[in-house]
Amino acid sequence: MTAPLRIALAGLGTVGGGVIRLIEANGPVIARRAGRPLEIVAVCARDRSKDRGVDISGYQWEDDMTLLAEREDVDVVVELVGGADGSALALARRTLAAGKGLVTANKAMMAHHGMELAETAEAARAPLKFEAAVAGGVPVIGGLREGVAANAVARIYGILNGTCNYILSTMEQSGRDFAEVLKEAQELGYAEADPSFDIEGVDAAHKLAILAALAFGVRIDFDAMEIAGITRIRAADIAQAAALGYVIRLIGLADGEDGGLFQRVQPCLVSLEHPLAAVDGPTNAVVVEGNFSGRLLFQGAGAGDGPTASAVVADLIDIARGNAGMPFSVPVGALEALPPADAGHRRARSYLRFTVTDRPGVLAEITAAMRDAGVSIESLIQQGSPEEGGEVLVAMVTHEGPESGVARALELLQDSASLTEPPLVMPLLT
Ligand SMILES: NC(=O)c1ccc[n+]([C@@H]2O[C@H](COP(=O)([O-])OP(=O)(O)OC[C@H]3O[C@@H](n4cnc5c(N)ncnc54)[C@H](OP(=O)(O)O)[C@@H]3O)[C@@H](O)[C@H]2O)c1
Repeated sequence: MTAPLRIALAGLGTVGGGVIRLIEANGPVIARRAGRPLEIVAVCARDRSKDRGVDISGYQWEDDMTLLAEREDVDVVVELVGGADGSALALARRTLAAGKGLVTANKAMMAHHGMELAETAEAARAPLKFEAAVAGGVPVIGGLREGVAANAVARIYGILNGTCNYILSTMEQSGRDFAEVLKEAQELGYAEADPSFDIEGVDAAHKLAILAALAFGVRIDFDAMEIAGITRIRAADIAQAAALGYVIRLIGLADGEDGGLFQRVQPCLVSLEHPLAAVDGPTNAVVVEGNFSGRLLFQGAGAGDGPTASAVVADLIDIARGNAGMPFSVPVGALEALPPADAGHRRARSYLRFTVTDRPGVLAEITAAMRDAGVSIESLIQQGSPEEGGEVLVAMVTHEGPESGVARALELLQDSASLTEPPLVMPLLT
């Protein structure tokens, strides 16, 4: 057997601890498959004395994590610290510039700096791998890079945030409202103390940006991403969706259209017939539509120490085998820089929910705006009984039509005194 792959581990939290446990538990089988053992040489975290439930006494401790990149006894640095910028980015830059391999689970850093890091990796001929950054243990990046490599991808979409999916599916099962379920998710450890990145859709957008780059061979353009989270969804929306034969899921979707790149994260009504409707709890799932493969579904645990460590160590095995590859499959210089696609002409059936004051003529005002904007209403689902404060929910589904029509109707209504909050729009995914 050849020399071990020597690893430095930055970050010994949930994922870092999982990586140590996995390499300890599966060392012999990993060494057989990789052709050489994986050996952790040095580690770094903030607090050396913290009990981490794993024995780190056999590894050298480094106080300053950027020094891991300079160590002569290290081939690959594994960055499991997190954060788009700051010390994680400094470590990533130094590691790649030093010609060492980098494995990271850091989607925020890859979404914001992935192009720069990939360029540095290419220049230094160093491997850069990030399977764990998207959908935790689900091997979707490997699937895109290798399994689907022969296809033109028409679109890629999926459930990319386990916290949102847990909240939405729990709201669905229990009939409870968002705030209550979020609180419970925090108590159970499914949501962070500061859940904003998850519930506002930003975390899913980070992952979608990485997937889009791989699926379409384009440069990451995170700033062009349209992002809406799940905070405005009410129990009543979920009940209405159910009555129509749909569930609500936060969907990240990207496709290449008319020379532009469309990337959006938003809650959608997903038909019960669709495979994503059955994806419950903190699970992630990604659908890839290839022109020869047809529709593929990648599904599994989107987070957690074991699944995420599984993806990190898969990258390490790849590097140990000598499969460096290009981080985004093709050289960064060959990635296309596509402008954002104009969403206005995208056709969809949409669910619209209005929150209105309970007074005569409101419904006529809304339907007139729809008519004037050329939006055809398929069904007016509910004119509910007044909620607290005399509010009524009016929900409707439109016939298929361009998004620009719905946008125009909402513009016509924006100064309406009848609306108590901006309308909520969710496309139907069938
Ligand atoms: N958790 C998941 O299920 C999951 C899934 C997919 C991807 N990820 C990604 O994986 C990465 C790590 O996530 P995690 O959940 O494992 O985070 P975590 O539990 O918070 O662990 C972070 C680790 O980084 C260390 N750290 C933070 N700042 C540091 C600094 N300045 N210098 C040295 N060490 C520092 C912490 O040290 P102390 O322990 O001493 O405080 C801790 O060990 C993130 O990018 C995350 O987005 C996580």
